[in-house]
Amino acid sequence: MLSEKMLNALNEQINREFYSAYFYLQMAAYLDDQSLSGMANWMKIQTQEESAHAMILFNYVSERGGFVDLGAIEKPPMDYNSPLEVFEQVYEHEQKVTAMINALMVLANEENDFATRNRLEWFVAEQVEEESNASSLVGALRRIGSGNGIFMLDKELASRSFALPSPLASSE
Ligand code: FEO
Repeated sequence: MLSEKMLNALNEQINREFYSAYFYLQMAAYLDDQSLSGMANWMKIQTQEESAHAMILFNYVSERGGFVDLGAIEKPPMDYNSPLEVFEQVYEHEQKVTAMINALMVLANEENDFATRNRLEWFVAEQVEEESNASSLVGALRRIGSGNGIFMLDKELASRSFALPSPLASSE
C-alpha cells in the first residue's frame, strides 16, 4: 500500500512524464516545420519514450493498489530559434526531470517505501542515459554551427527507433 504522500508524488510524476511527451512532440512539430525530419523523428521517439515512462509509473501505482489521478497537461513551449536551442532545452529539461526523480527517491526513503525505491532505480539509471544523449547532441550541434553538417546529423537521427523499456516489456 502506498502512503498518501507517495501516491500523490507518483501521480504528479505521471503527469510530468506525459508533459515531457508533449514537450518533445511540440519540438518535433518545430523541427518538421524546419524540414529537419530526422531530428523530428528523434523527438517523436522521445515522445514515445516519455509516454512509456508515464505508463511504467501508471502500472506501478495500480499494482500497489493506488488510484491513478490524471491531471491536465500543460501547454508546452512552441517557439524556438534554432535546432541548437531546441536540444539545449532538451538537456535542460532532462536535468530537471533527474531532480524530480531524485526528489521522489528521497521521499521513498523517508517513507520507508522500498518497493517504490526499487521501481525508481530504473528511472535513476534511465536519467543518466537521457542526460548523456541530450548533452552529446548539444555538443554535436555546437561543433557543427550553421554549416552543412546539420543535414548529416539530421540524417543520422532519422534512424532512431523505439524500443519498449524493459519494465513494460516484462509486464506483457
Ligand atoms: Fe522521462 Fe526524459 O525522462
